[in-house]
Amino acid sequence: MTVAKKIEDTLSRSSWIRRMFEEGAELKRIHGPENVYDFSLGNPNLAPPPRFREVLRELVATDRDDSHAYMPNTGYPSACAAVAGFVDREQGVALEGSDVILTCGAAGALNIAFKALLDPGDEVLTPVPCFVEYGFYADNHGGVLRTVPSRADFQLDLEAMRAAIGPRTKIVLINSPNNPTGAVYGAESLKALGGLLREKQRELNRTIYLISDEPYRKVVYDGIQVPSLFASYPESVLATSYSKDISIPGERIGFVAVNPQAAHRKKLIAGMALANRILGFVNAPALMQRAIERLQGEHADIDAYRRKRELLCDGLAAMGYRFVKPAGTFYLFPQSPIPDDVEFVQALKAERVLVVPGSGFHGPGHFRIAFCVEDSVIRNAMGKFERAIRKYTK
Ligand SMILES: Cc1ncc(COP(=O)(O)O)c(C=O)c1O
Repeated sequence: MTVAKKIEDTLSRSSWIRRMFEEGAELKRIHGPENVYDFSLGNPNLAPPPRFREVLRELVATDRDDSHAYMPNTGYPSACAAVAGFVDREQGVALEGSDVILTCGAAGALNIAFKALLDPGDEVLTPVPCFVEYGFYADNHGGVLRTVPSRADFQLDLEAMRAAIGPRTKIVLINSPNNPTGAVYGAESLKALGGLLREKQRELNRTIYLISDEPYRKVVYDGIQVPSLFASYPESVLATSYSKDISIPGERIGFVAVNPQAAHRKKLIAGMALANRILGFVNAPALMQRAIERLQGEHADIDAYRRKRELLCDGLAAMGYRFVKPAGTFYLFPQSPIPDDVEFVQALKAERVLVVPGSGFHGPGHFRIAFCVEDSVIRNAMGKFERAIRKYTK
């Protein structure tokens, strides 16, 4: 054996999303891509906003010899300042460029935060269903992911959270708008969570950080606004990216911002800057830093995702599928018509519809549909969804 035992084990348990993606590639090879309805990946299908390409052209035209050099590990100060200026307004809390570190996507943001905060055996608590990579990220840095149930409507269950917090809890990680459920936590809920964490900090005599993973913050519908994290709790860190809202996941650009009221803010920023370097990211991609400096507030055509959501939700509801309509993201997380979600996902696969079992997100009994696809894929898949549910219901 050549690879490490832990990697060997992880490879053999390989993520459901990847597995569906690989099986999908095989189905497409056999039947042709137009005959496979692939809802497995959260890869935004909308084009980036037109301004993105304009900015890239401007940047290339004004390229200088030092445009591709190293810069501070936290990022270009002017880019950090532009991000801080935008987050300041969004969060309603005064922020400076020095409160921000530019990262390689939200994944890079979470990894540097975990690296800077976790001692071996420290726990990261997260409500489930959740993004499956969280467990790997915690483990990367000696931490342990502990899952906490959510309410039936996928909102925060504060009593479950209260029961889960213990002497090893270092981080409570939330993700709103949520992958895979599409749930958005309201301001009252965040405030109550902040209150609970304050109480637990006093009781356990230990700092507990609240990290909010928010790459879908701008992908929300019906006028919903994602409330301010920083207003809810001082020891908080925002981790996010431009992957989903500007449709540039391959460009690997995101950031962490630390609440200016956090007690150990300077040390935490220094720790994460060091982590950015020693994890091998060094810094976020230079060209993208300069791009996002000029793109604050831009986003892809979110209304197109809203229309896809309507098309999918109306169609599936009429067939008898049961779900909580997502308030944000481009995911729908319906109940499986049978308890075994993996079996139902196989039934859909037999119709050449690819989705991911809820078990892959610590949410068994459900399945995830990523509707960031062409409208025609949704329309053409409707009959297939119907045939699959009819196998199990009258
Ligand atoms: C909830 C959540 N967090 C983090 C990420 C990673 O985002 P990025 O590609 O910006 O690293 C994803 C990607 O799908 C996600 O869904």
